[in-house]
Amino acid sequence: MSTQLWWVNPETMVVSPAALALLSEQERAQHQRFIPPKKRHEYLATRVLVRSVLGRALDVEPQTLQFTANAWGRPTLWPPAPLHFNVSHTDGLLVCLVSPNPEIGVDTERLARATDLLALAPNVFAPQELSDLAALPAGEQAHRAVWLWTLKESYIKARGMGMALALDGFAFRFDTDRVRLEVSPALEDDGARWQFQTHQLGLHCVSTAMAGPMEDLLPVRQFHP
Ligand SMILES: CC(C)(COP(=O)(O)OP(=O)(O)OC[C@H]1O[C@@H](n2cnc3c(N)ncnc32)[C@H](O)[C@@H]1OP(=O)(O)O)[C@@H](O)C(=O)NCCC(=O)NCCS
Repeated sequence: MSTQLWWVNPETMVVSPAALALLSEQERAQHQRFIPPKKRHEYLATRVLVRSVLGRALDVEPQTLQFTANAWGRPTLWPPAPLHFNVSHTDGLLVCLVSPNPEIGVDTERLARATDLLALAPNVFAPQELSDLAALPAGEQAHRAVWLWTLKESYIKARGMGMALALDGFAFRFDTDRVRLEVSPALEDDGARWQFQTHQLGLHCVSTAMAGPMEDLLPVRQFHP
């Protein structure tokens, strides 16, 4: 199977007995523990999307899938399977990247958050990213900031180490024809071995990170519950 990017608007997914039946007992208990209805629904929708997409790809019943998490909380299939995934959720969008490649990450944000994220830039972006940002016309900076944010998150998530990875230890540079990653030696990685793609899905931006040779533009598929 080639790498695929799946998306769904969680608000279109209904809480039905059939949806709940896809979850493990532990996931159903976790689902009940969420107090804000929106978070509770997001949790259910994520489990349904991940289990359905992986179940189809592996040709197994989705409710039989089991998961574990690494030391930094990244979920993976257990026992290990020839298929890997990473998910991201934000208001109005849930995305799941599925691939035979274990080194993948995805992140999404609402484009409307651009100005808020620009305000956070000094705390989260690397010095090179900040100087590139400052060199842009003022009207383009917020747009760059939201894409940069999702690219940085996609890389963090592909590395599987969450916030243990220093945010100023790696920098995305925007060349005219591609996005390039520079990594400080402390992070023990080679930026050139990564490829990144950006997709705009309606009012959301989505960035993906994948290690390995350049792939064609990812197929983007809508999930129909
Ligand atoms: C832990 C982290 C992955 C959370 O990311 P997030 O942007 O808040 O949330 P997302 O919706 O994109 O991703 C959450 C999903 O990532 C997955 N995930 C959790 N830990 C992960 C890890 N260590 N590595 C990869 N994926 C992880 C999970 O599937 C999770 O969803 P689930 O809990 O429903 O299963 C991490 O990157 C983080 O804490 N970021 C904080 C935000 C920040 O300051 N970013 C700066 C960007 S410049």
